[in-house]
Amino acid sequence: MHTIILSLHNVFRWVCLAIIAYVVFKSFTGWMSNREWSNKDEKMLLIGTIAVDVQFLLGLILYFFLSPITKINFKEFKTIVTDPTLRFFVLEHSFTMFLVTVFIHLAKIMYKKKKIIYARYRTIFFYYSLSLVAILIGIPWFRPLIPGL
Ligand code: HEM
Repeated sequence: MHTIILSLHNVFRWVCLAIIAYVVFKSFTGWMSNREWSNKDEKMLLIGTIAVDVQFLLGLILYFFLSPITKINFKEFKTIVTDPTLRFFVLEHSFTMFLVTVFIHLAKIMYKKKKIIYARYRTIFFYYSLSLVAILIGIPWFRPLIPGL
């Protein structure tokens, strides 16, 4: 079960990254060109939120139930701080990805408060750019880029 969920979590990072990068691009061009707001924009944000929520949920399952890394270290909290890999997964990775999820949700909440269209795009661009930076920092690039590689 651990291998299946970890593989899904591994591959799904590319889906999240692609969607976030796409939304950053579309919101920037929408802001700059003052494009009309459309249903496509609503859908784009919905898909972004669902993708990141799914990845977050997979992460929580690994963290609390399946991962041997977090299992070992809840018992020996001192080792977390001294071992860089353990510290990364137990504290840094989970916290950074929590922030990613918060930014994605903030984008969806905050754009609705903007009546002017370009301000909507600007708000989305702001929160999705933050989440892009956070996700790039939080991904364990030292681990396989695809499962089994
Ligand atoms: C939301 C965006 C997230 C992305 C893009 C992401 C990405 C990744 C990647 C690429 C790996 C390495 C997979 C591998 O080695 O094959 C990983 C591992 C891991 N992630 Fe995440 N993650 C996210 C969220 C989370 C969250 C929110 C948690 C926990 C609360 C979490 C917990 C873990 C754990 C514990 C591992 C190591 C699992 C193991 O090797 O047993 N992740 N993550």
